[in-house]
Amino acid sequence: MNQNQNSREQWGSRLGFILASMGSAVGLGNIWRFSYVTGDNGGAAFLLIYLLCIIAIGIPVLMAEFTIGRRAQSDVVGSFSSVAPGKPWVIAGFLGVASAFIILSFYGVIAGWTVKYFTSYLTGGISTDGDGGTYEVFVNFISSPIQPILWQFLFMALTIGVVFNGVKKGIETTNKILMPLLAILVIILAGYSLTLGGAGEAMAFLFSPDWSALKDPNVYLAALGQAFFSLSLGMGALITYGSYLSKKEKLPSAAVSVAGLDTVFALLAGLMIFPAVFAFGIAPDSGPGLVFITLPEIFNEMALGTLFGLLFFFLLAAAALSSAVSLLEVAVAYFMRRFNWSRQKAAIIVGGIIFFIGVPSSLSQGVWADITFFGNDILDSMDFIASNIFLPLGGLMIALFIGWGWKKSEALEASNFGDSPIGHAWIFVLRFIAPIAIFVIFLTAVGVIKI
Ligand code: PHE
Ligand code: NA
Repeated sequence: MNQNQNSREQWGSRLGFILASMGSAVGLGNIWRFSYVTGDNGGAAFLLIYLLCIIAIGIPVLMAEFTIGRRAQSDVVGSFSSVAPGKPWVIAGFLGVASAFIILSFYGVIAGWTVKYFTSYLTGGISTDGDGGTYEVFVNFISSPIQPILWQFLFMALTIGVVFNGVKKGIETTNKILMPLLAILVIILAGYSLTLGGAGEAMAFLFSPDWSALKDPNVYLAALGQAFFSLSLGMGALITYGSYLSKKEKLPSAAVSVAGLDTVFALLAGLMIFPAVFAFGIAPDSGPGLVFITLPEIFNEMALGTLFGLLFFFLLAAAALSSAVSLLEVAVAYFMRRFNWSRQKAAIIVGGIIFFIGVPSSLSQGVWADITFFGNDILDSMDFIASNIFLPLGGLMIALFIGWGWKKSEALEASNFGDSPIGHAWIFVLRFIAPIAIFVIFLTAVGVIKI
């Protein structure tokens, strides 16, 4: 249709594609969001539902996104409208672009906090001289009006910078180096954390379910939302990344490795954070501040704690960056094609707008804390709408699109499953299991079905 379409960029290699997808998946969701959502929802019972959501819904939808993107070779809106012109599926595409704006707006705020913590460790660490310890330090920082916005701005500028430079150069190379480092560090910290004396309680909290928690319908919605958020699903990030992949590469093993790595990271983060939560007498349901309060406590106790703190927050910020880049890329790819903008122009304008949309989320931790929706502040509300509603809804449409909108033989071929039992099982899940599960979880959460 236009020049952009003929000269679309491509990944340098299949490995590059897998690493970038892993970079998108592994981020604040695994450490910051996973730990506090697990803490808020009672631990083990939530974890079980979360793992079920990953296996029964997450991996099949992840495969669906790769398949759609690679087949269509276009951004999230273009993918739906080119495979099924004139059909309502394209709504899922617009929902995806909207989710990218909403999620990145608050993601940039939290990521800004990680950059700030990194620089604090550069200059000696988090002092806990005050009575309130690391809690007080954290709350003082996030509730101040200007400072967090400056860090958010810095982080968004970095994100824009990577997207500005294109698919191949920025994203592909950084992930190759940073992901293994982050994994090693999380393993070391989990090992250390387990020696702190809170290990027994942490293990019980994470792995021996309190079944009564399953009576709360919100737990299912929270688990579903966390699965979608953590796997970068339901908004076309992986459709967009799949669209830069050439037709000859195989998809299923890539999908399984991305989901597997993401899950391992989340579990390790749990093993790192919860022993400290119990050892230092912090409440597991302390909310979004959990990692910023518990981890500095660990680093203060550890030999070489400042060095570990420095490394950890650097890598967390880097993981956040590779995820943020994939969020921005969804919107940028759309604006480039739709308005025939250059990548550079799209990155700056779209990224700039998203920064401004995020400012209220930052202010909601302090001066605007009184503005709430159903008891949630602005940041939590943005997260709730995007993660628990838009992403599952997008995932529902993606599943239905392949399950019912495509000819079965075509979908099997485009996915590289071919005419295999696992391929047929995949289509069955997309047709029935995933849509019904998502639908039922929605209905339960709005109280239509009582359990
Ligand atoms: N998966 C990312 C994380 O865990 C967040 C994300 C969500 C990225 C949706 C892209 C799309 O941090
Ligand atoms: Na994740």
